[in-house]
Amino acid sequence: MRNGKNGFLIPFFAYRKIRFEDDQMETTQLEKDNKHWSGRFGFIMAVVGSAVGLGNIWRFPYVAGQQGGAIFLFVYIVMVATIGFLLMSAEITFGRNAHANIVDAFQKRHKRWTFVGYLSILVAFLIVSYYSVIGGWITRYLGGYIIGGGFVSGGDYGGVFQDFSTHPYLPIIFNLVFLGACTFILAFGVKKGIEKVSKIMMPALFVMIVFVAVVALTMDGALEGVKFFLIPDWERITQSGGVGGIIVAAMGQAFFSLSVGIGINATYGAYLKKDINIPKNTAYICGFDTFVALVAGFAILPAVFSVGLEPNAGPGLIFGSLPAVFHQLGGFGIAVAIIFFVLILFAAITSCISLLEVMIVFVEEKFKFKRVLATLTVCGVILITSTLVSLSQCGYFGVDLLEVFDLATTNFLMPVCAILMCVYIGYVWKIRKAADELTFGFQNQNGFWVRVWEIGVKYVVPLMVFVIFIFGIVGMFTK
Ligand code: TRP
Repeated sequence: MRNGKNGFLIPFFAYRKIRFEDDQMETTQLEKDNKHWSGRFGFIMAVVGSAVGLGNIWRFPYVAGQQGGAIFLFVYIVMVATIGFLLMSAEITFGRNAHANIVDAFQKRHKRWTFVGYLSILVAFLIVSYYSVIGGWITRYLGGYIIGGGFVSGGDYGGVFQDFSTHPYLPIIFNLVFLGACTFILAFGVKKGIEKVSKIMMPALFVMIVFVAVVALTMDGALEGVKFFLIPDWERITQSGGVGGIIVAAMGQAFFSLSVGIGINATYGAYLKKDINIPKNTAYICGFDTFVALVAGFAILPAVFSVGLEPNAGPGLIFGSLPAVFHQLGGFGIAVAIIFFVLILFAAITSCISLLEVMIVFVEEKFKFKRVLATLTVCGVILITSTLVSLSQCGYFGVDLLEVFDLATTNFLMPVCAILMCVYIGYVWKIRKAADELTFGFQNQNGFWVRVWEIGVKYVVPLMVFVIFIFGIVGMFTK
């Protein structure tokens, strides 16, 4: 027996029937709007596409290196397997049930919670405004390797990158190209746009990154990089603010890499039919994302070490250091460089479209815009903000907007959103109902692991994120 809609106790089979009829209706509506994944594989590839991005290929190796290698790796994996897994599965569950853009999804059960939806959109807006700029840089480097020129044989690669990224208009043009490509894909909608592209780009990325890692590991001196990545360096740990600092960094990295906390997975979950096993597929997605990060670590750090460079160059790591590595490989290096920049471009595109999609569905539903118009509106606004971010690199505004947006989102806004989402799911929606949705279609909806999930989402995650968040703030001020 379970509680029915009006609080009456109704027999379980009747409850299931109501749910079933509900689903039938939803599915038809979805199909009419062409807003659903064609199947499990399409959904997984799209979520993986959102998760696997610059966070895995650039940010992860660099942060892991800075935070002492092996210990960070261990803490990071624990974070992904606990907070990351719980948040992602909760978010997808929330989205599949609410079946709407993120603002309406929060509004559905309590008007007062609408602001969390808007907050999520704000975070996506800030991230995409700088993500797209980096996408532009990648486009430029790929073009440079295809056509030839200073990027390939510059000698002072750091200087080449510096000159390019602070150029008043070149990065803006490439940002336009990158954003234009994302806009084009998004205009085709969910199944014909996002899903189709992810289904091609993600498997291709996988093959390419394994190839690049193999090349990197066979270079002279690569072992140094492997050691750096896998053997803890206590000196670096003390430098980076101790174990507390590592935990804060690992959580931020897990959030960013898995794209959790700001409703992206809820939006993608809204296009899901009920026949998908959420916990199982979330586990695959988390596993795959971590795998790509590890392979990227093995591809980039050994290569950087083999040419005698330090791995803590920040955004310059890819753009300023790797060209030196490619150069050392001669003609073969150009082919490897092209493969590398194509793969990172794929990673950046599929992540960028997920961030834009959250805003596009919102505009589509809120203002009753057609898909193409909504896409053009959102991408047009982002073109303006990303241009500002790009211009800030030249020092025009006195602040580096890329850094400000990045820090404000990963260290501050994403944890806040994640806590609010858990509180909403646990207390406003009610954790039992969430668990029912999570386990829809399961033989046993009350098993041990379901209980663990409930406790995890309702108590453990918000508390842990809160504690680590405070830690991070205190650490920021005491540094
Ligand atoms: N996860 C992506 C990466 O690793 C970036 C990203 C896409 C993201 N969507 C997001 C980060 C939503 C935070 C929130 O590069």
